[in-house]
Amino acid sequence: MPNRVVYFNGDFVPELEARVSIFDSALMFGDMVFEMTRTFRHRPFRLRAHLERLYASMRLLQIDGGMSIDDMERATLDVLERNLPTEDDDVDWLIMHDVSNGPLRTYHTVFPSGARPTVSINCWPLIVHMGNSAANYRNGVRLEIPSQQAIPAHLMDAKAKTRSRQHYAMANTQAARMDGWPVLMDTDGFLAEGTGFNIFLVKDGVLYTPEPRNILLGVSRGTTMELAHRLSIPVREANLGRYEAMNADELFCTATTYSLVHASHFEGQPIGTGGPGPVFSRLTEAWKKLVGLDLVAQAQAYESRMAKWEKSEVQETTVNT
Ligand SMILES: Cc1ncc(COP(=O)(O)O)c(C=O)c1O
Repeated sequence: MPNRVVYFNGDFVPELEARVSIFDSALMFGDMVFEMTRTFRHRPFRLRAHLERLYASMRLLQIDGGMSIDDMERATLDVLERNLPTEDDDVDWLIMHDVSNGPLRTYHTVFPSGARPTVSINCWPLIVHMGNSAANYRNGVRLEIPSQQAIPAHLMDAKAKTRSRQHYAMANTQAARMDGWPVLMDTDGFLAEGTGFNIFLVKDGVLYTPEPRNILLGVSRGTTMELAHRLSIPVREANLGRYEAMNADELFCTATTYSLVHASHFEGQPIGTGGPGPVFSRLTEAWKKLVGLDLVAQAQAYESRMAKWEKSEVQETTVNT
């Protein structure tokens, strides 16, 4: 097994030993919050913003992880520090937080010393995530509207990042049949978000993104809007429908791992030339400057290494288990 370690309920344990009980509220109800950020040249990107979102999600779900946000931040940096030596120096990392209230009270007899909240922080090398993004940077992604809709905020607020993700899984399955990425509509017929990304469109030089109603407020979404302001690109949060997406000059997605990727097609129709548009390209350059890393070059480099990396992971796991 690769030598990665995980922060798990107060201890640092080998990755395979971080096991969640079958009685955990996370498993029983999908009652768990999570976060995902990444490093750029080993520096976590907007870690505090991600942790603030984690704690806001915890408040909504009434999950008490039993540690302060400062302790969570310290533990996160510790996990990263311990895992860095397990990969080459040029490898960046995904950082994931998962928090639940732990095993349900009904099953307390299984835990005579007392059930505790489940808190895990793990790191994962970005080789495959980013390697797979290389083709998307080159070709763009094809966006499709699945029949699965976004859940309105008054029923379940998408601003909380939770593991109750069945509707996203359904949308992924439906869009995969069309060989695309899903963009969920809300029940008013407006575009909401993807299953792991926010969306933007450009029309006549103005950058539009769905208003923050039925969506997760992506840290990359916020960063993109911030960069647009700095570049004097007008930004509007608005109700956007199929019509606006179909007639956009540019369309793109934002998320933690790849930051931003352009859409070549929307429901089978090419967007602009099908390639990255001028506003998207300016924003990409601004992202690269902000994080001090050429994301696209990193993805290309990882793409050529990912098969070998996966093979060695499997070999090490087989030898050590
Ligand atoms: C449903 C959803 N929307 C948007 C995003 C993008 O958020 P961020 O930019 O913080 O990664 C994610 C990320 O996982 C997500 O799950």
